[in-house]
Amino acid sequence: MTRTLVTGSAGRLGRSLVTTLVQAGHEVIGVDVTAGTPDEAAAVLPADLTDLGEAYDVLTRFRPDVVVHLAAIATPFSRTDGVTFRTNTELAFNVCAAASATGVGRVVVASSPTVIGYGAPAGWTPDYLPIDEDHPPRPWNSYSLSKLVAEQTMAAFARCSDTRFAAVRPCFVVAPEEWAGAPTQSGHTIAERLDRPEIAGVSLFNYIDARDASDMISVLVDKLPGLPNGEVFFAGAADALARDPLADLLPAVMPATRAAAIHLTGTRPAFTSAKAERMLGWTAKRSWRTELEIG
Ligand SMILES: NC(=O)c1ccc[n+]([C@@H]2O[C@H](COP(=O)([O-])OP(=O)(O)OC[C@H]3O[C@@H](n4cnc5c(N)ncnc54)[C@H](O)[C@@H]3O)[C@@H](O)[C@H]2O)c1
Repeated sequence: MTRTLVTGSAGRLGRSLVTTLVQAGHEVIGVDVTAGTPDEAAAVLPADLTDLGEAYDVLTRFRPDVVVHLAAIATPFSRTDGVTFRTNTELAFNVCAAASATGVGRVVVASSPTVIGYGAPAGWTPDYLPIDEDHPPRPWNSYSLSKLVAEQTMAAFARCSDTRFAAVRPCFVVAPEEWAGAPTQSGHTIAERLDRPEIAGVSLFNYIDARDASDMISVLVDKLPGLPNGEVFFAGAADALARDPLADLLPAVMPATRAAAIHLTGTRPAFTSAKAERMLGWTAKRSWRTELEIG
């Protein structure tokens, strides 16, 4: 049985991932600073992984085959800039370093589409749409910068160790309770994000169901040994979180996207997961059109 350690196991994505991995036959160890890891986990250990010693302790205690590193300050501007940058970069370094040194076979690191730089106060124009992994990153705040550093940290360890690494950029993660009306991480409900395009437009109307994101990570973990080391993947829904085509909506909220957005007809999203489909055989199954509970 594959033993998989999930950091940030009490979080929005972590809770879903623990369930998905257990259903896929993994023995899952949950590590988080707070309680909330699902009961399906075989073991749960509270630990602050910004402490390198704690990261080594956790990995030498459990000796996992796989680490999925989700722990982070996950919402931009939810803490001071310095704390967000320091926490997320230390977490990525400590987990990658300890996993590599203790012989973990496979490591997946959570990054973010925000590395691309949309929403920059000085303006942002995409080189092209839909955005894929070749689009240049242009982070402009401490969160997106910390996530780019996390990707670079993952890539650095991929160059110098036997561990297989990859990073995932999940789109705006929607947990099952949020389809039922609970507020999302932005504080708005999904219905509000659909009704007021200026809210979701800031992040280019991207989203993914938490269970789809978890499936993607589960597939990536399986395929990692056969992939080039240090790959980065977007993971998003196959459509946009919008009632109208982004060719119309995006220029209305972000005029600099006008030229590139003409390709986003129908339900096409602004981020493509074509690389994950090509290299992993994964596509998202769920859409807001089928998941949203209209109350
Ligand atoms: N939610 C999204 O829309 C989204 C989008 C793109 C990327 N991501 C990334 O995916 C990952 C998971 O996101 P989420 O939405 O589940 O976030 P979340 O805030 O719900 O969960 C993060 C978890 O990490 C834990 N954590 C924070 N600091 C820690 C530390 N020092 N040691 C141990 N645990 C710590 C928190 O207690 C929390 O349970 C994050 O890395 C986030 O940046 C999330």
